Amino acid sequence: MTVQRTQRAATLVETSPGPADTAAIDSALRPRVLSEYIGQRKIKSHLLMHIDAAKARSEPLGHTLLHGPPGLGKTTLACILAREMGAQIRTTSGPALEKPGDLASILSNLHQGDVLFIDEIHRLRPVVEEMLYGAMEEYALNLVIGKGPTARSMRINIKPFTLVGATTKAGAMSAPLRDRFINQFRLAFYELGEMERIVERSAGLLEVSMDKDAAHRIALSSRATPRVGNRLVRGVRDFVQVRGITTIDLSAVESILHAFEIDEDGLDAVDRTILTAIVDTFQGGPVGLSTIAAILAEEEETIEDVHEPYLLQQGFLQRTPKGRMATKKTYEKLGRQLPEGAQGRLFGSIDL
Ligand SMILES: Nc1ncnc2c1ncn2[C@@H]1O[C@H](COP(=O)(O)OP(=O)(O)OP(=O)(O)O)[C@@H](O)[C@H]1O
Ligand SMILES: [Mg+2]
Repeated sequence: MTVQRTQRAATLVETSPGPADTAAIDSALRPRVLSEYIGQRKIKSHLLMHIDAAKARSEPLGHTLLHGPPGLGKTTLACILAREMGAQIRTTSGPALEKPGDLASILSNLHQGDVLFIDEIHRLRPVVEEMLYGAMEEYALNLVIGKGPTARSMRINIKPFTLVGATTKAGAMSAPLRDRFINQFRLAFYELGEMERIVERSAGLLEVSMDKDAAHRIALSSRATPRVGNRLVRGVRDFVQVRGITTIDLSAVESILHAFEIDEDGLDAVDRTILTAIVDTFQGGPVGLSTIAAILAEEEETIEDVHEPYLLQQGFLQRTPKGRMATKKTYEKLGRQLPEGAQGRLFGSIDL
């Protein structure tokens, strides 16, 4: 029985998509227009206003920065922005722009009103970033041609365009770059009702029928993140297809959550390992990020960008100047006794 279960779980885990697959699913399920983009109400209404105003003035939209945890819809929103402006979008990323020349050739080929989308903009190299300043402010490139005493500077005008930057780490951007974005939006985690609509929409696009309870359960376990919701819908679709089931119900969802090791709070195995390490190895903390990363053999960046935002939002983790700390809720979740003297020391351990 145990062996059978383990084998079944292994087969299911294989259906969990890898990065290339994830990109394909992202693209297939991506809303194309603002009205299809669920949630983020404040951002949408601000954007609509700016889009209408820019269109009325026949000007490009002001440079726009989108920041927030992975999978919340930054790339999606950038594509929608371009479409709503009736503009072409050129896409690149911070690490892909190795030399100022790489950026110069993209910028000088832009057409009037185009959107240039730079993903992971916090990872731009300083020399490339400097070239961007002039392009953003004056629609001009200041180039240095040649070297040494014969070097001369040259100014090339480019077509007015909109830069849309996306980052999971707005704090890692330099202030001069950040300040040049007229519109700055922080994407928030999605509410449960919004996640249900996203899950139902994705099931519809993937042509699978899903009952209300199943959609609710997936929404609950999606870390308030559309990409995770879509991944679960994909997983559960494969599960029912293999079994010849026509409608996704709660038990199919439970099976896939079990296989993906996602619990009722939406936490995955890595999240739980982080919490267990803080509670069991470091008596609730504080403990530094680098120590947690070393214990888990994970990149610090992955822990900080992918895992922590949701743990913080859910109140399972607290960030203090001395390091990360567990909360009363963490102890309850892991079924551990609060240590002596922890009352009042841990966030959430006193009712205010
Ligand atoms: N508001 C939304 N409504 C419906 N679906 C959404 C929404 N936001 C995101 N999605 C879905 O989630 C997927 C992931 O979104 P997206 O790729 O835009 O996230 P991201 O913020 O750019 O992530 P990363 O930081 O990893 O680049 C999209 O393909 C889309 O299907
Ligand atoms: Mg993206």
